[in-house]
Amino acid sequence: MKIVILGASRGTGLLAVKQALAKGYDVTAVARNVVTIQQECHASIAYSSLKISKGDVLYPASFDHELEGADVVISSIGVTNNKPTVLYSMGMINIIHAMHKYNVSRLICVSGIGVEVTPGMPFIMKLATKYILQPLLKNNFSDLLKMEAVVKQSRLNWTIVRAPRLRNGEITGKYRFAANEYLRNPLILRRSDLAHFIVNNIDNKQVFCSRVEISN
Ligand SMILES: NC(=O)c1ccc[n+]([C@@H]2O[C@H](COP(=O)([O-])OP(=O)(O)OC[C@H]3O[C@@H](n4cnc5c(N)ncnc54)[C@H](OP(=O)(O)O)[C@@H]3O)[C@@H](O)[C@H]2O)c1
Repeated sequence: MKIVILGASRGTGLLAVKQALAKGYDVTAVARNVVTIQQECHASIAYSSLKISKGDVLYPASFDHELEGADVVISSIGVTNNKPTVLYSMGMINIIHAMHKYNVSRLICVSGIGVEVTPGMPFIMKLATKYILQPLLKNNFSDLLKMEAVVKQSRLNWTIVRAPRLRNGEITGKYRFAANEYLRNPLILRRSDLAHFIVNNIDNKQVFCSRVEISN
């Protein structure tokens, strides 16, 4: 299995790289700053199965060739501020274009539960999402919603994974997920568990063409 992971230099993407290597997959890890990937992964016994590639999803020529021969593309790209952004939408348009170019049909990408006030949220969370989180993160969320729309129109075997607030910590494997339904109380999740879901559901046809909510 050859996996391309975009947004691989930290957080969920980097954890997905490590977990995919541990499963014996061939991994191409793409980000703009690749030093951390080398630092974090060089001790892995599967290091020889890792290709590290400097690329920017907003510049197709910098990364699209890495998709040749891939079985799946995973995107965990993200911004660290709430300035107006096109990273998610334009980045995804470029990713999907590259996937079509190289006949790669499986895509898993990360979005956020907060883009929508859902029936599964407790009352207080609904209020906090609508009146605090969404105004605060309106630039991120509007571009994430554009990304989701682009993915849904892609004719790929896509999975959009909507994550709640992320935190760090070891894998627990104790998380819930629902495809095309709304989870009750989707409050928090470890990045390692998000990466675990992604890496372990690459072939799961039940989540193809699905929006998945995930939470602890
Ligand atoms: N933080 C939360 O609580 C939360 C909640 C829900 C959903 N999410 C979503 O979950 C995902 C993962 O979040 P995270 O906090 O684990 O990771 P993160 O720290 O946001 O990492 C984002 C990754 O995207 C890469 N990236 C940014 N711009 C890029 C570009 N132009 N080209 C290529 N790569 C680029 C970064 O690497 P370089 O900078 O090296 O390029 C980095 O590896 C994100 O999509 C985020 O929106 C986060």
